Amino acid sequence: MALGVEGESAREPPREGRWRTNPLIEEAFERLFGAIPETVARAPGRVNLIGEHTDYNQGFVLPAAIDRYIWFAGRRRAERRVRLRSLDFQDGVELDLDGLERDGQHPWSNYVCGVAKYFEEDRHRLPGADVVFGGDVPREAGLSSSAAVEVAAAAFWQSLAGLKLDAVYLVKLARRAENEFVGVPSGIMDQFISALGRQDHALLLDCRDLDYRHVPLRDDVKIVVCNSGVKRALAKSEYEVRVQQCREAVAQVSRAGREVKSLREVTLDDLVAARDRLSEVVMRRARHVVTENQRVLDAVKVLQEGDLNRFGQLMNASHESLRRDYEVSSKELDVLVEIALHQPGVLGARMTGAGFGGCTVNLVREDAAAAFVQAVQEGYRRTLGLTAETYIFRASTGALT
Ligand code: GLA
Repeated sequence: MALGVEGESAREPPREGRWRTNPLIEEAFERLFGAIPETVARAPGRVNLIGEHTDYNQGFVLPAAIDRYIWFAGRRRAERRVRLRSLDFQDGVELDLDGLERDGQHPWSNYVCGVAKYFEEDRHRLPGADVVFGGDVPREAGLSSSAAVEVAAAAFWQSLAGLKLDAVYLVKLARRAENEFVGVPSGIMDQFISALGRQDHALLLDCRDLDYRHVPLRDDVKIVVCNSGVKRALAKSEYEVRVQQCREAVAQVSRAGREVKSLREVTLDDLVAARDRLSEVVMRRARHVVTENQRVLDAVKVLQEGDLNRFGQLMNASHESLRRDYEVSSKELDVLVEIALHQPGVLGARMTGAGFGGCTVNLVREDAAAAFVQAVQEGYRRTLGLTAETYIFRASTGALT
């Protein structure tokens, strides 16, 4: 595990195999603080190919890091204070490293402040600093811009403080910032892939043991992401409801005689055996998770065998399960998927991320990708009168890989 620019001037050319620093973030730092930054760090957003709402159920996920990043640039200061500027929010705050607290006035700062707080709490002392951050991960689109901020912050603080910590420890620290400091009860997928993604690979993660494996992606197939443009308004409250419903299913399956800790250990037969105890809704939620875990394992198998048609079918089945059983899709996402599935060269299409808005992910043959993008945009406009931004991502390297 090595950080991109650890210990060297951000202005030096990258050594072989390292990423290039971003002149924009360096210039911004210079403009704001009148000096050259000592350290630059970055972390990517992510797109999940399959394995949705399984991470907090100790299940399997198959995300890829995307080639959109959050960048941090900074230098040390003598006092234990942090002057923190956000380029994207055009705003700034000052943090006291001896009194890090949640800031209701500047919610954007909590992702960075939370990460700093848990470094300090774990006795990894941070230096005061001047810091600027910003990037091009689309926000509120289900592409994990917040996890990218947290992981980039972790990479940045580690570099600035001259620490060499375990990557998975930093992933957990970043997730803690999201769960405990920001207050969103998410799983570990987003921080994990942002830290440990690999170029041109997806990552199979077992969210129970945190075992992981990179799986190569073929370059004749493109990951096309379509943004419904609908902000994920219900995402937080409905996400919490889903987490609760999954817990309820675990409790009832256990009461029915099969002691389990999570839906990861549950089979469809267990659900049938416990059916008198499960409400119709909880039954469907649990069925999504159980079948989705199996789809992830099947997807990895067929990906390795080069059977991308089958991979696409599993993506489609995932969408159906999220729509009917888990009920986290939306009209806009369903329309995007429906249009996508009628296009030539498309292998599979589904909503990605928490749902209730955000994006769809599509696997499309390279030679059909340009026409696909155009057809989806036109179809979306014609059907709903809305504009869909689209992106063709290349799977990229994580912050701590
Ligand atoms: C959000 C959460 C993740 C995961 C997905 C759904 O992105 O942050 O932990 O639960 O939703 O798969």
